Amino acid sequence: MSDSNLVENVLEIKKFPDPVLKKISKSVEVFDSELENFVDDLFRAMRVHDGVGLAAPQVGVSKRIAVVEYEEKSYVLINPKILEQKGIQEGEEGCLSFPGIYANVKRPQWVKIEVQDTKGEKHILEGEGYVARAFLHEMDHLNGKLFVDYLSNLKKNAIKTKIAKGTGGHF
Ligand code: NI
Repeated sequence: MSDSNLVENVLEIKKFPDPVLKKISKSVEVFDSELENFVDDLFRAMRVHDGVGLAAPQVGVSKRIAVVEYEEKSYVLINPKILEQKGIQEGEEGCLSFPGIYANVKRPQWVKIEVQDTKGEKHILEGEGYVARAFLHEMDHLNGKLFVDYLSNLKKNAIKTKIAKGTGGHF
């Protein structure tokens, strides 16, 4: 497959300040082939853009669906809920909706979540370190919360200025 084929029909990533990024997403209630195809499209868009995770609102779909892929493990998060979390970690995060912006964010070190798959089956997932960070970043997207919301107003304003100037690279 050529590169041009690879990027054809790939979902467009919504960038800040698109209002869809601030909406609270709705639960998934229908588990059908359309959902399966959408999850495949999410994975494809995430891979094409070199992301570790991608949430449905980031492609303009306000539903509680996200995907994460790290060290060749793929995770589908439909209607995810946090069951338990432990510890604390601080690390740099980027977001496909904020090209070129990176910020240090504190998150739990370990998290246990309940998710559904594309068939509606429930699963328990545990994530530590980077995977916990990815789960929580994507789950925040489903609640209209963005990683820059963790920053002080001063840092947020610096980011707004940077976006306005269009100095961002790509993640
Ligand atoms: Ni993000």
